[in-house]
Amino acid sequence: MRGHFITFEGGEGSGKSTHAATLAQRLKSLGLEVVLTREPGGSTGAEIIRHILLSGIAKPLGAETEAILFAAARDDHVRNTIMPALEAGQWVICDRFIDSTRVYQGALGNVDQRLIRGLERVTVGSAVPELTFILDVPARVGLARADHRRGKKTADRFEGESMEFHENLRQAYRALATEEPARCIVIDGRPPRDVVADRIWAIVQARLKPEKAEVAETSAP
Ligand code: TYD
Repeated sequence: MRGHFITFEGGEGSGKSTHAATLAQRLKSLGLEVVLTREPGGSTGAEIIRHILLSGIAKPLGAETEAILFAAARDDHVRNTIMPALEAGQWVICDRFIDSTRVYQGALGNVDQRLIRGLERVTVGSAVPELTFILDVPARVGLARADHRRGKKTADRFEGESMEFHENLRQAYRALATEEPARCIVIDGRPPRDVVADRIWAIVQARLKPEKAEVAETSAP
């Protein structure tokens, strides 16, 4: 794997999509090649499965089946989008990845950890994130932001869960960060957007040292 792989995680309305996009922009402004992607989705096959999952039609089948569907989407995404970009030396920034399955289906859906880890083994391969930012906001704050953003549209499969679910989600993300402190960094998502973005950028600079891409020399006329 020659490129770099960074993921963003967090509950609804935590700001992770905004910060994934801001980081991608900052890296691009150094002239680096960046792929900004998301899960579920990010490749043709995975986008089809995304629709099945977020519409809620798979909910009656249970959390285990949903975990398998998320894994199927991830498999397509890793093979067709993430690995080719990493092999080409690009920076891949992904909005949600394995930790969403660990937290939503594992911790909250009570899906057996062995199944979760087994699915990871077959889908992720060497595409393990080097750095994962977990955007942390109280459930109340995150849901209020998500409601505001959604306007009159109805909540999707997971946005429609209870306040308790979302608070448990936050605690599960925090617990996960303490299990893998070298990879996972919890970022307080409450300060103003620019402050959060600068914190993330400082960590990426310190850890992964992105350097301005060399511009190919053009010969003078
Ligand atoms: P999405 O519309 O992408 O919104 P956001 O990421 O901004 O919350 O919704 C993705 C939903 O899918 C989100 O509620 C979390 C859930 N999800 C899982 O339950 N497991 C997973 O493995 C992934 C990738 C997502």
